[in-house]
Amino acid sequence: MRKIIINGGRPLKGEVAVSGAKNSVVALIPAIILADDVVTLDGVPAISDVESLIDIMTLMGASVDHDGETLTIDPRGVKDIPMPYGKINSLRASYYFYGGLLGRFGQAVVGLPGGCDLGPRPIDLHLKAFEAMGASISYEGEAMRLSTKGQPLKGAHIYMDTVSVGATINTMIAASRAKGRTVIENAAREPEIIDVATLLNNMGAHIRGAGTDIITIEGVEKLHGTRHQVIPDRIEAGSYIAIAAAIGEGIKVTNVLYEHLESFISKLEEMGVRMTVDEDSIFVEKQDKLKAVSIKTSPYPGFATDLQQPITPLLLKAEGRGNIRDTIYEKRINHVAELARMGAHISVLGSQIIYDGPNDLTGAAVKATDLRAGAALVTAGLMAKGTTEISNIEFILRGYSDIIEKLRNLGADIKIIEGD
Ligand code: EPZ
Repeated sequence: MRKIIINGGRPLKGEVAVSGAKNSVVALIPAIILADDVVTLDGVPAISDVESLIDIMTLMGASVDHDGETLTIDPRGVKDIPMPYGKINSLRASYYFYGGLLGRFGQAVVGLPGGCDLGPRPIDLHLKAFEAMGASISYEGEAMRLSTKGQPLKGAHIYMDTVSVGATINTMIAASRAKGRTVIENAAREPEIIDVATLLNNMGAHIRGAGTDIITIEGVEKLHGTRHQVIPDRIEAGSYIAIAAAIGEGIKVTNVLYEHLESFISKLEEMGVRMTVDEDSIFVEKQDKLKAVSIKTSPYPGFATDLQQPITPLLLKAEGRGNIRDTIYEKRINHVAELARMGAHISVLGSQIIYDGPNDLTGAAVKATDLRAGAALVTAGLMAKGTTEISNIEFILRGYSDIIEKLRNLGADIKIIEGD
């Protein structure tokens, strides 16, 4: 089992470039099933979720060429073969294959999705949308069969009871080639939704309103090929900005869209973090005194649930008491016990996390319990005195491309070893 080893306490300096957005590319790839021609994606991050999706697409019959950050996919050989398990269970985003296969073939037999343990992660809203569009649902062992029984998928008026990124995107994908108009009300507004809509529209779809809470899709018969640049990963960007504020002595984070991080940056400014924001980069100066703040996550454009864990080590450096409430995943707290092992004064109290600072962290053997918890432990390890050993690092490698190289370029003493 591989581990990350960090000798902490070293000041970091220099420049780090953010890669393409994981939560966009994991939807863009299955969406390409809808095309009747070749689609090329640029700015694809080097993360294991992309590798898993390439394996699944290839198994289904697509031909895929992966060259650095460029992914060229010809979906014309894709068959609607059952995909009951295997890589499908390795990531939550495999649910996008329901939308892609249903949109193209009117049928999908796909295993139930996997993903990080953040507490219950139902897909009822996805299924409610597919049923509204005429698909029936049955279960076959580990897999779920969605089928329109030979009828075309039809447009529908769908109200999302909960704001859901996945259900919004999945419905948009399936509706792109449905017969008629689909309206999604109470849609999620994340930038990744706009990115998927941009790809689909450039393939010939008619989607309006992506990024607002009402999205309208006029279904079309065919979708053609295109070339698309994946948007920067706002969660990776926020993770590096937190590292820069926690242990940096002047770090420039590049390939950042400020407008994707406004609530995050405003919280850092409230703490007293000094930053210079340019068009596509943020320079973070060395920090001395920081003020403890409280954080409540909410759907975009609110404070992202995916950033409450990566910002926590920085919060631990601040003076005073603060709390964190994740209104999207209340159980997204598994990093707290690991940080406490490093000497942090942090604990879970009911549905919130309470912390008291400032804290001097000490290196320890800790384990990543999910992707963003892992990012928090890397940051804590960089801040801590002594050596930190992080296990279960496959979680981290799912969402942070070239993280070891990027941090070493900033001066970090970090490496991956083959553990026992
Ligand atoms: C996406 O997950 C992201 N993953 C998550 O990022 C992110 O935390 C989440 O959106 C919220 O922003 C990907 O995009 C691959 P949701 P998703 O549907 O789509 C409930 C990371 O770290 N819900 O927006 O699965 C759900 O339980 C990952 O990169 C239903 O009740 O999240 C949650 O409480 C972790 N029924 C809320 O909605 C459904 O059918 C928001 O979930 C679907 C969701």
